[in-house]
Amino acid sequence: MIFSIQPHEREIFRLISQTAAELGYPAYVVGGYVRDRLLARPSKDMDIVCVGNGIHLAQELATRLHPMPRVAVYQRFGTAMLRWNDIEIEFVGARRESYRHDSRKPTVVDGTLEDDQNRRDFTINALAVSLNAQDFGTIIDPFNGLQHLKEKIIKTPLEPGRTFSDDPLRMMRAIRFATQLDFAIAPETLQAIAEYRDRIRIVSMERVTIELNKIIESRQPSTGFKLLFNTGLLQLIFPEMAALHGVEKRQGKAHKDNFYHTLQVLDNLCRTTSNLWLRWSAILHDIAKPATKRFEPEHGWTFHGHEVLGAAMVPRIFARLKLPLDHKMKYVQKLVLLHLRPISLTKENITDSAIRRLLVDAGDDLEDLMLLCQADITSKNPQKVQRYLENYEMVKERLAEVEAKDHLRNWQPPITGEIIMEAFGLQPSREVGIIKTAVREAILDGKVENNLEAAYAYMLEQGKALGLAPVNEPGNNP
Ligand code: CTP
Repeated sequence: MIFSIQPHEREIFRLISQTAAELGYPAYVVGGYVRDRLLARPSKDMDIVCVGNGIHLAQELATRLHPMPRVAVYQRFGTAMLRWNDIEIEFVGARRESYRHDSRKPTVVDGTLEDDQNRRDFTINALAVSLNAQDFGTIIDPFNGLQHLKEKIIKTPLEPGRTFSDDPLRMMRAIRFATQLDFAIAPETLQAIAEYRDRIRIVSMERVTIELNKIIESRQPSTGFKLLFNTGLLQLIFPEMAALHGVEKRQGKAHKDNFYHTLQVLDNLCRTTSNLWLRWSAILHDIAKPATKRFEPEHGWTFHGHEVLGAAMVPRIFARLKLPLDHKMKYVQKLVLLHLRPISLTKENITDSAIRRLLVDAGDDLEDLMLLCQADITSKNPQKVQRYLENYEMVKERLAEVEAKDHLRNWQPPITGEIIMEAFGLQPSREVGIIKTAVREAILDGKVENNLEAAYAYMLEQGKALGLAPVNEPGNNP
């Protein structure tokens, strides 16, 4: 089969072809670029394999391009990279690799195109397009990759145990491609992932997490998580999530399976946002349910405080998964902590005060919190769904009303600790905290107006109630 070369590729393919021919190196486009082009997916990174010296080919090619691009050379890996018209092109000599048991780092020796194709992860990633005069544009497909693209199958070119023990990260990649491309994993390939799962331990967490995030960024991440769970990989890389799996029944009462519930929330949310960190908050929103689960004979199963414990678990999980520990983690923590708040407001207690507190606590992340809550409505009972949705809409309306009236988004109380200390001549102390909280609560409850004058007067009252005397003369207000 001939690869249909697009106009924007024609010039660069010709130039690579001519340069390689002059150097006496047969050259090919390989891997993900070929796969993505055949699937009509956007692809920017192009890999060129030549039977010869890849660095040399890149340097020689660069001299023929205008303007001449900079060539980045990675001597240690025998590769070179240049950027041309927005395409990143990487050059490497064809190689044969052999892997040691305890490491992902292979020993590399020169090889043929066939050797190079043999060492690749999946048949759909082992396709090569010839850039050589005698068969320019021909697709070289030793493992039936074209057929597997059509049938939507992920399959290793060699015996799967060999491909996976050569590089165990490929087990994550198989599941990631299956999720991203909506492909099935061939039965013997899937079986080998389950069998070789323990080998994932020699892969750095950073690399595992890159794949995990790609699964989460897919259209329907549940596909990937189910595969991770069923092969036993999830239990190794993310045990807290695997622990959500399962149902317990006592006195005829069962709780829902929190693993599948979490996946449903995640898929629901993915229909409304591409924000990776909001998607992470869906994954973690019920993470403390196993740890807080109790059976109360009168009520059935309860998970009291799972939002608080869940938020507390976030930093440990982020640290282990090598996710960022900055404001992104804080954002996920905040959403996990607040995820019950909007829906827990019922018709009777949607008071101005409850709404104000939600506005203040969620701040700029209120819209994201509302998306998470909406995605969290997964009950199978239509009456319950109806009730939650009505509540949700009502809370949304009330939030908009109160926000328009009070402008409380990212609100800071007008009375700070410094003002209190100055007013009563205090050092930092318990009293300062008590007064500060009292003022904040009174404003949020609507008992005191949200301005400095009213708040200052209320602060003086509260101080006096604690037996404190203001430093300034009465009436000498700010
Ligand atoms: N490859 C491999 N084993 C790996 C990683 C990569 O065999 N563990 C090979 C595959 O042939 C792959 C090519 O190297 O197609 C390029 O790898 P990479 O750029 O990581 O992946 P892509 O397949 O291009 O896909 P994506 O860009 O989505 O990661």
